[in-house]
Amino acid sequence: MKKFTSVKDIGAPSGYIQEAIKIKKVPFTPEKGRGKTLGLLFFNPSLRTRMSTQKAAKNLGMDVMVLDINEQGWKLELEPGAVMDGSTQEHIQEAAAVMGLYCDVVGIRTFPALKNAAEDYQEKVLNKFIQHCSSPVISLESATRHPLQSLADLMTIEENKKVTRPKIVLTWAPHPKALPQAVANSFSEWVLEAGYDLTIACPEGFELSEQFTQGATISHHQPTALADADFIYVKNWSSFKNYGQTKEGLDHWMLDAAKLEGCPDAKVMHCLPVRRNVVLSDGVLDGPNSLVLQQAENRIYAAQAVLNNMI
Ligand code: CP
Repeated sequence: MKKFTSVKDIGAPSGYIQEAIKIKKVPFTPEKGRGKTLGLLFFNPSLRTRMSTQKAAKNLGMDVMVLDINEQGWKLELEPGAVMDGSTQEHIQEAAAVMGLYCDVVGIRTFPALKNAAEDYQEKVLNKFIQHCSSPVISLESATRHPLQSLADLMTIEENKKVTRPKIVLTWAPHPKALPQAVANSFSEWVLEAGYDLTIACPEGFELSEQFTQGATISHHQPTALADADFIYVKNWSSFKNYGQTKEGLDHWMLDAAKLEGCPDAKVMHCLPVRRNVVLSDGVLDGPNSLVLQQAENRIYAAQAVLNNMI
């Protein structure tokens, strides 16, 4: 596998989900990656992705190198043919090529600017990196998708589902800052690719790009959407239509215990980090139906399944 940036890179996700579940039972297989190196390049902050991917590589016996490029690297130029007499010091062409020489697999995290949808959805940084890097590339969350998170989420659903086709609801939640659509886009894409029923609840104007939601039911009424849910995935995202915008007066979209009265057995998911009592109430987060820590743990095995197929 040359790249892991979307569910489209692996086809049906069931094989990877089963592989991750198998790895969870016997995670430490240090012979597989001995002598191989993983490089992780971060343009943006991270706790889970940074640590779980390193843990996965170490379980496989790999060496790991991490570069926070904004603090530790040169400022990168993206434009071909640029006359680099300004603030940029290194072209992505050389940076990606050099990392490809040093590393057997390279992971890259690059968030959107949330100013211009067409620009962000081109995935310029990720695609240029893939173009110039001779080693396989893993997305550690890009402008439009977070595939390692989605694989861990689907694995968590597989571990907890009680019926073959559970009702899965992705619900928008409030947040004081504009956030990318990547986690929500990716979750929708993976759930639909896995053949599950998906309902997406969001305020009007916060519909995700149809590129990711074909086949999902879209609802603007959260209580109706949540009725009889088996899994509720809670996430904020900024508007795609009014690109990158947020809106005030939507605090009632926070998921609290009262919202679960119509679906008391529903499992609640969030990718973390989460703002308590803004996105999700303490009661729900700390309650028996919360899967957030299981999701975070499964990030290790999801990453390990992907690395396993690349080395
Ligand atoms: N869920 C997730 O990707 O967390 P981090 O941003 O901390 O890596």
